[in-house]
Amino acid sequence: MAQSSEERFPNVRFYNAALTEVQDDVAIGDGARVGSMAILHAGARIGTGTTIGSHCNICACTIGNDVSIQTGCHITRGVVIEDGVFVGPHVTTLNDKLQGGPLSYPHIGKGARVGGGSTILPGVTIGAGAIIGAGSVVTKDVPPGAVAVGNPARVVRQP
Ligand SMILES: CC(C)(COP(=O)(O)OP(=O)(O)OC[C@H]1O[C@@H](n2cnc3c(N)ncnc32)[C@H](O)[C@@H]1OP(=O)(O)O)[C@@H](O)C(=O)NCCC(=O)NCCS
Repeated sequence: MAQSSEERFPNVRFYNAALTEVQDDVAIGDGARVGSMAILHAGARIGTGTTIGSHCNICACTIGNDVSIQTGCHITRGVVIEDGVFVGPHVTTLNDKLQGGPLSYPHIGKGARVGGGSTILPGVTIGAGAIIGAGSVVTKDVPPGAVAVGNPARVVRQP
């Protein structure tokens, strides 16, 4: 009989393992927490101490240590989220600009904070420590430490 998620990852806290899908070939670091009804797709790499909120859809991406992904986020394949990033609720990353390829992948630098409801377009880099306002559509790179808001997101404050 197949192992439960709790048996596969004894050092991870699942809020409701029966309602969480963890596919094969997923890595989750010790001390991570995974909310109810999250789906972790094959190839997902999740660091230590990281929280994946309820109703998140996590594709084959790389998420660092001590990251917080709040409720209802969709994190696409190939995304890299570095250590200490905060991703607010219902954030969507995208990886297919022309919706028929080629793919390019968002990268969110260490300690950045992405406001709830934001959309991060393919290939965009959000610099370390940057802040993205709630509801932003990030179409271009955001420099480290900058604050960017709106649709399309514009830098309103430099570090
Ligand atoms: C971006 C943010 C950090 C700015 O906060 P702040 O530095 O205190 O800035 P202010 O509230 O003083 O707003 C400054 C200006 O930016 C505008 N602004 C602020 N947030 C905005 C946003 N998300 N989208 C568009 N404009 C925004 C304000 O209307 C204001 O405009 P004005 O100068 O024309 O009046 C904050 O507004 C925000 O969006 N935080 C994210 C919250 C979130 O999603 N949390 C997730 C966990 S619940």
